[in-house]
Amino acid sequence: MRRAARITATVLGLTAGGAGIEHGVFEVLQGNVTPEGLMIPSIGPPCVPELSWNQCEPAMTIIPNFLITGVLAILLGITVMVWAGFFVHRRRGGLGLILLSVSLLLLGGGIFPPVIGIIAGAVGTRIGKPLRPGGGVLSGASLRVSAGLWPWALALYVIWVLGQFAVGHFFNDWLLANGYIIIVMVLGSLLLSVLTALARDRWSSLWRMKAVKAMKAMKAMVVYDSVYGNTAQIGEAIGAALGDALGSPVHVQVVKAGDAKPEQLAGVSLLVVGSATQKFSPLAATSRFLKSIAKGGLNGVKVAAFDTRFPVSMIERIRILAFFVRIFGYAAEPIAKRLQRAGGELVLPAQAFYVGDSEGPLLEGELEKAAEWGRQIVANL
Ligand SMILES: Cc1cc2nc3c(=O)[nH]c(=O)nc-3n(C[C@H](O)[C@H](O)[C@H](O)COP(=O)(O)O)c2cc1C
Repeated sequence: MRRAARITATVLGLTAGGAGIEHGVFEVLQGNVTPEGLMIPSIGPPCVPELSWNQCEPAMTIIPNFLITGVLAILLGITVMVWAGFFVHRRRGGLGLILLSVSLLLLGGGIFPPVIGIIAGAVGTRIGKPLRPGGGVLSGASLRVSAGLWPWALALYVIWVLGQFAVGHFFNDWLLANGYIIIVMVLGSLLLSVLTALARDRWSSLWRMKAVKAMKAMKAMVVYDSVYGNTAQIGEAIGAALGDALGSPVHVQVVKAGDAKPEQLAGVSLLVVGSATQKFSPLAATSRFLKSIAKGGLNGVKVAAFDTRFPVSMIERIRILAFFVRIFGYAAEPIAKRLQRAGGELVLPAQAFYVGDSEGPLLEGELEKAAEWGRQIVANL
């Protein structure tokens, strides 16, 4: 749905209906009286059309009675407002608003309000229409600037429609002498609102199309290495989370390091690599895979690294092991460094996942932690 067109049609329709009601109230106040002709002043004496900036709010009626005309104008004004608020975006909602506005014109709702309602209805007919790429008069910078003017043009319209009464109150004679100002301001801001709304919707749809295209082109890859299966489970959990977070068009491949070929990296924009830590390092197949990536081979690619390892509490129990770990570390950090050296842009710091023993199992909650880390990667892309 075209959002800007919907909001614009609703706002214009609300002002049209509201102004129609206002005309109706003044007509009711004139009582059970027969007007002189088809064209009537909504505001009765002491208002003198020639002396009042708003010309006593001229209207038209096909019913020769002020009271009945006024009641009908109020009812139609309310209907126009409700229709503009809740139905204008529906199928034939725009047409409905146009017909209601024509009725408002014939039954005392003023001249300007029905015209505004008809324009609102015309905008309403565009709400559900699909936008074709390449269509539209504007493009590039002119489209961007026009789109940026909405909703300010609409705000200007609302401010003027309400503010003209204050201006008229204080500067009646000036407005009377320069009556064209009202027409220029109301119609000008109204037309600007409509044109900028159409531009805004076109602009938004172009952006959406670009974003979907970029997503469709995106390929993500998780490369893991595992002896006892624990790192494989973590890699799969990360891959699934990436797939969920990136949405359906994105293809996420989860590959064992021994099977991963550098050619598979073609078109990949996110690469996550992880390995079980053995002897303070990544497994051999992981190192081989990392070495196979050419210098600069990961330029423009977002990367992240993880490993599985013993928890610190376990390592601290064996003094000599703790000593070596302090010097040589684990697998994830060197993996991250290698990915960066190949040109990759690290999305998050290297991440550890813990096992209870050499063959596992993973500590409780580690799979959920892996899924959360995957989501964090996407959030930081
Ligand atoms: C020979 C060997 C050496 C290991 N060296 C380390 C080590 O240096 N640091 C560490 O935290 N864990 C070490 N571990 C524990 C492994 O990290 C653990 O086996 C691994 O996380 C299990 O993952 P996998 O099931 O994917 O192989 C070692 C395990 C083995 C079998």
